[in-house]
Amino acid sequence: MKRTHHCSELRTEHAGQTVTLSGWVHSRRDLGGLIFIDIRDREGRTQTVFDPSDLPPETFERASTLRSEAVVSVSGKVRKRPDGTDNLKIASGQVEVMVTNLEVLNQAEVLPFPVDDPEVTAKVNEELRLQHRYLDLRRPEMVRNLRLRSKVATATRVYFDEQGFLEVETPLLFKSTPEGAREFLVPSRVHPGQFYALPQSPQQFKQILMVAGVERYFQLAKCFRDEDLRADRQPEFTQVDVEMSFIERQDIYDLIEGLLKRIWKTALDIDLPTPFQRLSFEEALNRFGIDKPDTRLGMELVDFTEEFRASKFKVFSGAVANGGHVKALNARGLADATQGQIEAMTECAKSFGAKGLAFIKVEGGEWKSPIVKFFTEEEKAALTKKLDIQEGDLILFAADEWLAACEILGRIRLYCADVLQAQGKLVIPKDRFDFLWVVDFPLLSFDKEQNRWYSSHHPFTAPVAEDIPLLTTDPRKVRGQHYDVVVNGVELGGGSIRIHQPDVQKTVFEQVLQIPPDLVQARFGYMLEAFRYGCPPHGGIALGFDRLLATLCGTSSIRDVIAFPKTAKGADLMTDSPAPVEPKQLRDLHIDLKVPKKEPQG
Ligand code: AMO
Ligand code: AMP
Repeated sequence: MKRTHHCSELRTEHAGQTVTLSGWVHSRRDLGGLIFIDIRDREGRTQTVFDPSDLPPETFERASTLRSEAVVSVSGKVRKRPDGTDNLKIASGQVEVMVTNLEVLNQAEVLPFPVDDPEVTAKVNEELRLQHRYLDLRRPEMVRNLRLRSKVATATRVYFDEQGFLEVETPLLFKSTPEGAREFLVPSRVHPGQFYALPQSPQQFKQILMVAGVERYFQLAKCFRDEDLRADRQPEFTQVDVEMSFIERQDIYDLIEGLLKRIWKTALDIDLPTPFQRLSFEEALNRFGIDKPDTRLGMELVDFTEEFRASKFKVFSGAVANGGHVKALNARGLADATQGQIEAMTECAKSFGAKGLAFIKVEGGEWKSPIVKFFTEEEKAALTKKLDIQEGDLILFAADEWLAACEILGRIRLYCADVLQAQGKLVIPKDRFDFLWVVDFPLLSFDKEQNRWYSSHHPFTAPVAEDIPLLTTDPRKVRGQHYDVVVNGVELGGGSIRIHQPDVQKTVFEQVLQIPPDLVQARFGYMLEAFRYGCPPHGGIALGFDRLLATLCGTSSIRDVIAFPKTAKGADLMTDSPAPVEPKQLRDLHIDLKVPKKEPQG
């Protein structure tokens, strides 16, 4: 029996036709001598009816013993459902198929968890679902996510093709260049004691492709990073990776805005307004306390350094005297925060290095706070005006070095937004997407522990041209030609204009990042050499494809948009990976193991 229709296809106009459906037994109900079986396939569901008066007894008997998720083909005549029995929740809900023939293609054993009610399945412990991912993926929501992923990948490829880009595959067996995240190593059998590394990104190859004259490159590229995992991080993930020659930053903004516009239209039928807002790193920190601001939340940080310079409240005036800043935010409507919530906020602030978290609750027309008694009328007036303080507000303060004060309140802002959303006081429409570019990042950051500079992004990012002389004299002041694209507080992608002059790149490696010249030669010698044979000015970007999909699908975890994701501990519970290997395999690879007694679990 060959399938004639998908399970979401049949409508009243098909009534009278004989059709064949193939799929899974979604549910079975035995009612008044009739058996109703909903057949489900990738596209949807159709109700089929087994009437003993129309069927050979053995067919009816087989139908009555079918288990959930058995695989079947059924043939029969489509008919309009009797009045009052339509199921408006499914596309084919106005019809049913009166079965004349049933073929059982495969039985299904009792499932480890039910899959007929997606809401129930979604609540099953995630470990169990990941162990049986093939069942979890039967949920319509997951099918939708996979479908959207495929559709967006196609739209991306079409867009880049239209723009004259070539998709070039770059190697997965690369070499270790331990500058960024920790890498996954692959031992070489043929070269005893030597290792490949899986690429953290195709960064170096795509730049070499520019030297090769490819001019416009893109790739849906698999990347590997052995980092601590979170909801938005997987050890292997996909980037929409891009590089272009003879361009400046604006060209990347235009290209990526065009791509995202196309994707949002294709996937959600939403017209994204462009150009996206642009914020400098400094402004993002000043206003939102983070370099990936979620501008939907409001509650901007306000600076009160000048107002509290001479304050009697020594926590504030002391911080200012030490060159620090006083910043505040107004969590509108959160004066009813519980003691527990205030303590949690304080702990959160402290984990970011805060010495405390001063606050004022505005309740019953009063400012309730142990610190208000230190404030002058002018100070209070300034707070009221700049924070627009009203009854019911909760005001929170950080007094610290500029970056710390911003980042502490940035965290608190997100915490407050979560609480306000849970209370229904902050409502954000599902279809709101606040895109923006963050630009003018500092090229370098200082690592106090190691007493050295490191690249804020990666060592190939070009300094702003007029800042090049500062590289060796005042590294702190050097701005990088780096940009991040952010949506709703998620860092979707980042990139930069690259260094294309071999001498500048060498200076950055050796004099700024203090990598010894022989190591520079061993790791990046081939790149520096390539740059000497005619390297065009170039730049690019990489978007996190999984994060992009998670945003489109409205989920906070990228695991929901990856067919076979890993757990937070990097395990694949379905295949039980990673796993030990045979001693012979290790011998072939010249590897001796020294494993600590207690092996880490799943
Ligand atoms: P970067 O390291 O900023 O830049 O990565 C670009 C984007 O990739 C996504 N991403 C991840 N997604 C899931 N899991 C992870 N572990 C993970 N790590 C990163 C993020 C991030 O914004 N080669 C440069 C790009 C360039 O300069 O062109 C790079 O990889 O969305
Ligand atoms: P103290 O005078 O140290 O008892 O602090 C008074 C209030 O200010 C307490 O609520 C502290 O949590 C808070 N506080 C202390 N240091 C800071 C700081 N650097 N920034 C913001 N609040 C602080």
